Amino acid sequence: MLEGTALTSGDDTWTPDEAVRYEEFAEKSFSWRCIEEPSLRSLIEPRIGDTGGALDLGCGNGRIIGLLRKLGIAEEAIFGIDSDQTLIRIVTSRYPNANFACQNITQPPYLVAAPRIDLATAHFVLQYLTVDELMKCLTELHRLLAPRGYLAIGLPHPARVAQQAGASYFARVHHRIPAPWGGFTTSSGLTVSDYLNCIMQARFTLRRVEEPEISTRCLGESGANAYAAGPTRLMILAQAVSLPGRGRAKKPRLLPNRARRSHADCAICC
Ligand SMILES: C[S@@+](CC[C@H](N)C(=O)[O-])C[C@H]1O[C@@H](n2cnc3c(N)ncnc32)[C@H](O)[C@@H]1O
Repeated sequence: MLEGTALTSGDDTWTPDEAVRYEEFAEKSFSWRCIEEPSLRSLIEPRIGDTGGALDLGCGNGRIIGLLRKLGIAEEAIFGIDSDQTLIRIVTSRYPNANFACQNITQPPYLVAAPRIDLATAHFVLQYLTVDELMKCLTELHRLLAPRGYLAIGLPHPARVAQQAGASYFARVHHRIPAPWGGFTTSSGLTVSDYLNCIMQARFTLRRVEEPEISTRCLGESGANAYAAGPTRLMILAQAVSLPGRGRAKKPRLLPNRARRSHADCAICC
C-alpha cells in the first residue's frame, strides 16, 4: 500500500503525485464504469432537457464533466470547482472552453457573477465535509440553482465506509480509509439519514435515492467481487423547488413535527 496524504476538508492536500494517480484511476475504475456512471446517468439524463448551465463541485480531472458533455451540455455552459491545483490544471486542458475555479467548496460564494445553473453535480466530494460545511455548501447550491434545478450527489456508501474503517456506522467520526488509487482518503463519517436530512434542511426536495448495484454487463469482470456484497455507493437526486409565491429567497421550511423532534435529538443536527 502506498502512503499518501489524507484529503480532509480544510486540509485538501493531495500531492501532485496523488492527483495524477487519481486522474489515471478515475475514468477506468470498475466502480465508475460499472456502478457510478450508469447510476448518475440514469438520474440526470431524463432531466437534462434544456439545461442552461451546469456546475460540478469537486470536479477533479473532469470525469463528471465528460458525462455532462456526452449528455449534450455545451462545454461553455459548464462550471467546475476544485481545490486541487494539479487537477484544475488537468481539467482545464481537457475542457478549455469550460469555466474552472480553484476554490474550496467549504468557502462560498462559488460563482460571483452567477449564470443560470440548472444542474449541479457533487460526485465523491461531499463525504469530506463536516455537517456545518455540508450545510454551507448545500445552502449555496440552493441559492445558485435556478428554480426547479437539480442537484445530483454521489457518495461512497456510508455503511461501506464505516466497514472499511472498522468503525461503528453510528460513530460519526472522521474515517481514514485506503484509497483505491493509492494512499488514503477520508470521510467525515455521516450516515445516510444525516445526508438526506441535511439536503432537506437546505430546502431541497428529494427526487430519488439509489444504492446502485453492479451493472449486469460488468458482472463477469474480476473487479466485481469487491463490490458485490452490499451497498457501495449512495446516489441522490434532489430538486430546488420554490414554494409557491415565495420566490427563491424563502424562509427555511420546517420539517413536520415528528421529523423535527428526531432531528433535534440527532447528535449531529444539520
Ligand atoms: C474523489 S475525487 C472526485 C473527483 C470528481 N468529482 C470525480 O468524480 O472524478 C474528490 C475531489 O474533490 C476535491 N475536493 C476535496 N475537498 C474539496 C473541497 N473542500 N473543495 C473543493 N474541492 C475539494 C479533490 O481535490 C478531488 O478532486
